[in-house]
Amino acid sequence: MVTAALPYANGGIHLGHLAGAYLPPDIYVRYRRLKGDDVLFICGSDEHGVPITLGARKEGITPLQFVEKYHTLMKKSFEEFGISFDHYSRTSNQIHHETAQQFFLDLYNKGVFTEQTSMQYYDEKEKIFLADRYIMGSCPNCGNEKAYGDQCERCGTSLSPDELKNPVSVLSGNAPVKKETKHWYLPLDKYEPWLREWILENHKDDWKPNVYGQCKSWIDGGLHPRAMTRDLDWGVKVPLPDSEHKVLYVWFDAPIGYISATKEYFQVKGERLKVKSDDEWKKYWMNSDSRLLHFIGKDNIVFHCIIFPTILHAHGEFILPDNVPANEFLNLEGDKLSTSRNWAVWLHEYLIDFPGLQDTLRYVLTSSAPETKDNDFTWKDFQARNNSELAAIYGNLVNRSLVLTHKFFEGVVPPMKDALLDASERELIYQISLTKKSVEESIEQFRFREALSEAMNLVRAGNKYLTEKEPWKLINTDKEKTGHILNLCLQLIGNISLLMKPFLPDSSKKIFKMISIDENNLPWNEIGKTDLVKPGTQLGAAEILFRKIEDTEVQKQIDKLHLNKKEVVIESKSGNIPTTNHEPPTTITFDDFSKLELRVGTVVKAEKVAKADKLLQLSVDMGNEVRTIVSGIAEHYSPEEMIGKQVSVVANLAPRKIKGIESKGMILMAEDADGKLRIVSPNENVKAGSKIS
Ligand code: MF3
Ligand code: ZN
Repeated sequence: MVTAALPYANGGIHLGHLAGAYLPPDIYVRYRRLKGDDVLFICGSDEHGVPITLGARKEGITPLQFVEKYHTLMKKSFEEFGISFDHYSRTSNQIHHETAQQFFLDLYNKGVFTEQTSMQYYDEKEKIFLADRYIMGSCPNCGNEKAYGDQCERCGTSLSPDELKNPVSVLSGNAPVKKETKHWYLPLDKYEPWLREWILENHKDDWKPNVYGQCKSWIDGGLHPRAMTRDLDWGVKVPLPDSEHKVLYVWFDAPIGYISATKEYFQVKGERLKVKSDDEWKKYWMNSDSRLLHFIGKDNIVFHCIIFPTILHAHGEFILPDNVPANEFLNLEGDKLSTSRNWAVWLHEYLIDFPGLQDTLRYVLTSSAPETKDNDFTWKDFQARNNSELAAIYGNLVNRSLVLTHKFFEGVVPPMKDALLDASERELIYQISLTKKSVEESIEQFRFREALSEAMNLVRAGNKYLTEKEPWKLINTDKEKTGHILNLCLQLIGNISLLMKPFLPDSSKKIFKMISIDENNLPWNEIGKTDLVKPGTQLGAAEILFRKIEDTEVQKQIDKLHLNKKEVVIESKSGNIPTTNHEPPTTITFDDFSKLELRVGTVVKAEKVAKADKLLQLSVDMGNEVRTIVSGIAEHYSPEEMIGKQVSVVANLAPRKIKGIESKGMILMAEDADGKLRIVSPNENVKAGSKIS
């Protein structure tokens, strides 16, 4: 039973999601299926929780409209990209509500929860209790002023609203009051001895160090009862009397979504095949022969390793995850991925910009997968890996072997002769079996990056063999040996495409077609055989496996990123909803500071930017030039007021297009607690262009 984290239906799928939680399990289950294992791969949209209600509010639509929109988008992206879920569900489905409610009731009836009435933060204007991300304040741990009620994203500490300093409501911006409310808590503290044994002792050696380490620090830090209900209207209703405006905590209901999606899968299948299959799901969830794996990103570790397993354990009838191979984060062009700043590559856009290049992305994301530490995706690396690895190595081996067989043997597979096998060829054949073994080992330990690189080494060995044997010369003197060599190349290609099938399924499909093999009848264990392609077989036409990616294409992507990146200053003024989670580091070195070129400029011209309420276009005299700078201050200064003012300019900021205007630099502003902006000027007038240091 393999699950991938249910993504919040509050945006698209970006490369970070893909690399962290979706591509690794996809490779894993494709491998398991090839081995003939009974594997089920389940996912769906997470449609509850504050990320949904806040997102809907920001877009001015209902939560229902909101999740409809993003569920559809995500499902389609996954499908087009080829993530091979057996079922992709959603938590708004009735079967999920019923399953989650029943689960809650089972625990309630067993007396698992503790009931507690307490004073909680409440927004009087919006008439709503402020849990989780509805409330912000300063982090008691690192001082980050934009910590949320459930977590500080800068230092990673998990928080409760009561721990925040100077809390404010995210909805109204007001300081909250306290009001009494009742909730049901999961007493995690009581399960500590069990968790210690189950994770810290039993999974010491098989869980990834990053996962084990996080669990250990949670447990050592002391576990506390955690509320499993919320005062909200959006979510799964608490199935108890007098709980009209209460729903299940999203992290209670969402993981149960894995179970309800499995039920739904068999329900749909049963209806289609007209067989009774109501209890089939239990084979995967309530059977000690089944093995459960959760693939997630690192921000989900505590929920999948501590909270959900405790829930399953407390229930008693379910199996527990055997492993939770969480990945670290993928950065983009050296900067943290951020949906709010739109610093992301969206899968649905990639699929439009690079049609048919799913495998290239799979290859690049796997080659630089953030398995043990955060990693970086860059467009230049994307291009290089495609052109100089996929095309120049893999594509080249396939293409040369096919083209030469067509040229010298009319595309009919020539025989291999045992008597002709030399030492280097025996070695190469042996290397196929060795590679199979090491790829298996790596995949089974969730080291996909290593597995792919092992497979690529076999491709390299094939290229080396072909280059050394020079069949294009040998054909003039020894046709039999030439045929023998090409046969071996074709066997190698067959083996490689089977080996690569979990990683690069589309390319394997193309290769199997070229070498006339029915891939549906080719299980994993055929790898190592040297008669995959039978002599006498007529080969198909040689197709290009990986096209070249041009400089202009990647430059376009880089430009697009910078163009669409949202300016934090403008964004944070767009409402009371905190939208940025990009916090600067606590300290910088003097060298960091000296990278900034700060200068005083004098505004000589100012005008409003069409169709942008917040923007002014300024012409700023910088001493030796007059620069155009677009600034998000129109709600704070009229154009007239700005003329003649001296401003502080970040003069070496890379130029950016804002609303079609090239802006060269940025103006420094001071922001007070009410969000009012004032320009930062020298105390007395100075010459335009003066350096600030
Ligand atoms: N929606 C969560 C996120 O995007 C993940 C939920 S995983 C589940 O971080 F287990 F709760 F389903
Ligand atoms: Zn913090």
